Amino acid sequence: MLVTIEGIDGSGKSSLISSLQTLLCDLSPVFTREPGSTWVGDQVRRAVAERADPVCEALLFGADHAAHLSTLVRPALKHGRLVISDRYSDSRYAYQQETLKGYIDDPLAWLQELHAGWTIRPDLTFLIVLPVDEALVRIGEKQSREHFENHNLLEKVQEHYLTIAESDPSRFVLIDGMKDQKEISGFVAGVIRDSFARSRSHRRP
Ligand code: TYD
Repeated sequence: MLVTIEGIDGSGKSSLISSLQTLLCDLSPVFTREPGSTWVGDQVRRAVAERADPVCEALLFGADHAAHLSTLVRPALKHGRLVISDRYSDSRYAYQQETLKGYIDDPLAWLQELHAGWTIRPDLTFLIVLPVDEALVRIGEKQSREHFENHNLLEKVQEHYLTIAESDPSRFVLIDGMKDQKEISGFVAGVIRDSFARSRSHRRP
């Protein structure tokens, strides 16, 4: 079963994932992330740091996704493992939908086309939602913020996330990022545990 965790920068994904590592350890999930830890992921981070052309950056994120699927996600799912990914395709649909404005006529359609036919749809996606001002406080005043970490962009990205979630309600679970961290992680772990148990009972002959 494939579970993805999404949200704007500063939404608390990292803390949630580190709690899930403890709460779900008996299920031996495969924890992973995009951009990934392959050489392609390194190139993505370089493109982001050097503020590469937005189309170039989007294509690299797509290449990273392909590498992620073939090296990790597909083999793990084939073995019936629970895969939990920190960011996945919806990050492209939300962030690159915004960064590609002015470069491509209909960025979302272009991005969906880029993934069509080979991506794997997550079974469950948790979207953490919170006020952008709060997210920026959490990110803090780092000396060199990634170019994604600015107020206007994150507002738009969060709007895109919410529109995507509305269009696919059976997959998305919205999480109020202002709630207590323990409450959030306990709830998310419970939903994952139930869904994974159901998916396993469906797999049995
Ligand atoms: P990352 O270093 O993983 O940051 P975070 O810890 O916030 O997840 O990701 C770097 C940035 O890349 C982050 O601001 C979100 C952005 N991003 C995209 O724009 N598109 C994508 O497809 C992905 C996976 C990430």
